[in-house]
Amino acid sequence: MSTDSLDDLLKEERIFPPSSDFQQKANFKDASIYEKALSDPESYWSDWAKKLDWFEPWKEVLKWNPPHAEWFVGGKINACYNCVDRHAANPDRKNKKAIIFEGEQGEVRTLTYEELLKEVSRFANVLKNLGVGKGDRIAIYMPMVPEVMIACLASARIGAVHNVVFGGFSAESLADRIQDSSAKVLITGDYGWRRGKKILLKKAADESLDTCPTIENVIVLGREGKSSEDCQMKEGRDHWWHDLIQDVNDVCAPEPMDAEDMLFVLYTSGTTGKPKGIVHTTGGYLTGVYATTQWVFDLKEDDIFWCTADIGWVTGHSYVTYGPLANGATVLIYEGSPDWPEKSRFWEMVEKHKVSIFYTAPTAIRAFMKWGTEWIDKTDLSSLRLLGSVGEPINPEAWMWYHKNIGKENCPIVDTWWQTETGAIMITPLPGVVTTKPGSATKAFPGISATVLNEQGEEITSGGGYVAINKPWPSMLRTILNDDERFKEQYWSKWDGIYFPGDGVKRDEDGDFWFLGRVDDVMNISGHRLGTAEVESALVDHQKVAESAVVSKPHEIKGEGIVAFVTLKEGQEASDALKDELKQHVVKKIGAIARPEEILFSVDLPKTRSGKIMRRLLKDIALGKALGDTTTLADPNVVAELKEKYEGKEG
Ligand code: WTA
Repeated sequence: MSTDSLDDLLKEERIFPPSSDFQQKANFKDASIYEKALSDPESYWSDWAKKLDWFEPWKEVLKWNPPHAEWFVGGKINACYNCVDRHAANPDRKNKKAIIFEGEQGEVRTLTYEELLKEVSRFANVLKNLGVGKGDRIAIYMPMVPEVMIACLASARIGAVHNVVFGGFSAESLADRIQDSSAKVLITGDYGWRRGKKILLKKAADESLDTCPTIENVIVLGREGKSSEDCQMKEGRDHWWHDLIQDVNDVCAPEPMDAEDMLFVLYTSGTTGKPKGIVHTTGGYLTGVYATTQWVFDLKEDDIFWCTADIGWVTGHSYVTYGPLANGATVLIYEGSPDWPEKSRFWEMVEKHKVSIFYTAPTAIRAFMKWGTEWIDKTDLSSLRLLGSVGEPINPEAWMWYHKNIGKENCPIVDTWWQTETGAIMITPLPGVVTTKPGSATKAFPGISATVLNEQGEEITSGGGYVAINKPWPSMLRTILNDDERFKEQYWSKWDGIYFPGDGVKRDEDGDFWFLGRVDDVMNISGHRLGTAEVESALVDHQKVAESAVVSKPHEIKGEGIVAFVTLKEGQEASDALKDELKQHVVKKIGAIARPEEILFSVDLPKTRSGKIMRRLLKDIALGKALGDTTTLADPNVVAELKEKYEGKEG
C-alpha cells in the first residue's frame, strides 16, 4: 500500500462501539478475557478444547520445540464426530438443519444433522471399500455442493487426509497438487454451474490424470444425481458417486485420531513458483475454529450462518465446514455467482433463508458498491445481525458502505485477519466487546499473542512494521508437506521462535491493528493469494516468451490486478493477439483468477548488475509513480524507456 493511502487510513476517526442491545445479548462480553488468556494461554486453550468430545484426554497441552508445536499431546479425537455425530445424537439438534444448499439454478436442498450423519457414514464406507484408510490422501476437485462437505467429513471420519483443490484452478494446477500430496483417490464432479454455464470438472480432471500415477480411483458426482453424457469414464478407475453409495451401510465408526494426526493439506501460494502444501492437524485446528466461530460471530443456536467462500480456500474449510459444524450451526452454501441471474441474487438469498450472519470478502463488497443499491433496496435484509469481512484489507469506504447498506447501521462488522497457515481467525473484533473502526481488524483474538516488529525484531510502538505472532497457537500450521526446510525458512527465519506471516501492519494509539497488505511477492487478487513467481513461470512456459516480471497494482474491484512485463524471444513479433494468447496461456496453466489485467512487451527488463529483476521499479511504473533509486541498475535506460512506453500504453 502506498504511503498516501496509509496516511488516509490513519486519518480514519469514526468509531463504532457495540450497541447496548447487541452487547446485552452477546455470547461474550467480559473484556478481562484478553489479559486472562494471555497470562495462561495453555489453560485458556485447554478450556476450549474441553468443549469438544475426545475419545481419550490429552496428557500435555503443548509441546513447543520451535518452530514445531504439538497441541493436546496424546489426546484422541475425530473431527467428523465432533462436527456431526455429537449433534445427531443430541435430541435438540438432530433435526436441526446442518446444511442449506442453493444451486445456481435455484434448487434448494437441506440436510439435518441426522441426515448428514447418514450421508457422511455411507460415503466413508465407500472410501473404505476402495481401500482408503488412515493417513491416505484424497484430492477433492468439486463444485460447491453439499457433497464436497460430505467428502471432507467422510475423509476425516476414516482418518484420511483431504486436499481440496479450488474448482477454478486449471488441470495443471490440479495435477501439481495431486502429485505433491501423492493422492490415492480423486473426487470430482461432472459439472458445476457458474453464471449459467456448466463448468466441466471431470473433463479438466481427465487432463491431469495422465500425469498422476498415484490415483487409483476417481469418484465422479453426477450433479443431477445421475450419470451424464458430459463425462468419459475410464473402466476400472472411474466410478459414479451414486453407484458407489447404493447398498452401502449408513453406519461407520469414526476413527479415533491422535490430536496431531493430519486432518488436511491445503495448497497456497508463496514467493516461489511452487505452491505450499499447508499441513493442519486435528485437535488444535478444531479447537481454534470452534472457539473463533463461537465468539467472533457471536454464534447462537438459531443463527443461519452464511460464509460465501468456496471450500477450495481455507475460509471454506474453517468457516463453512469445521468451525460452524463443530458448533452445531446451520450453514448456507451457494454454488454460483453473486450476479446470476441478477445482481440481487445474494440479497434474495439472505431474505429467503433468513440469513443472520453474513461473512464475505472486500472484493465482493466493492463489486456490490459498484452495482448500486437498487439491487439491495428491493429485498428485506432484516434477518441480518452480524457481518464479517475476510481475505484482504477492507478500505474504510467499503466498510462504511457495508455497514450502511447491508447492515442498515445495525449490525457489527467483524474484519477478521488470518491466513491459510494460521488455520483460524487471529486478529478481529469480538463484537460484544470491541469498538470497531472502519478499516481496522482491531485486536488479537483472546489467547493469540500478536505484535508489530521491525526487520530486526524490535517492537514498533508507532509507525508501520510487520505483524508477528510470538506464541504458538492451537490451529497453527505444523509444516509444509514434504518441505519442512521451506517451512522453517519461510515463516521462522526472520526472528527467532516468532512466526512471520508476511503482512505489513500499523498499530494506532489504542493498539489496534490496521493491515496494509503483503510485504513479499505474494499478490492478493480478489482475495485469492497468488505468487508473482507463479504467474511469471506460466508466462515463461509459453514458447514465444523469453522472460517476464509480474507486479500488481490497485484494482477498483479486485483489490489488486496483475500487470505483466514480458520480453519475447528473438524474432517474435509483439501484437495484441499475442497478448490475448499469453493471457489465455496463464489461465490454462493456473486458472482464470490468474489472468493478467495488462501485458506490456519490452525489449529488456530492469536488472541489477547481478541480473536480479527489480520488481520495485516495475511497480513504480505500473503505479505511475516517479521512479525510485535506479543507481544499482545495469542499464538505467531500460527502465526509463519502459516507463515512457507504459504511460503511452503501446507495446
Ligand atoms: C490477507 C485467507 C487484511 C493477508 C483467510 C493474509 C487480510 C492473506 C485479511 C491470507 C484482513 C486476510 N485484512 N488482510 N481481514 N484477511 N488477509 O491464506 O495478506 O488465502 O496474509 O487466507 O490474506 O490469505 P489466505
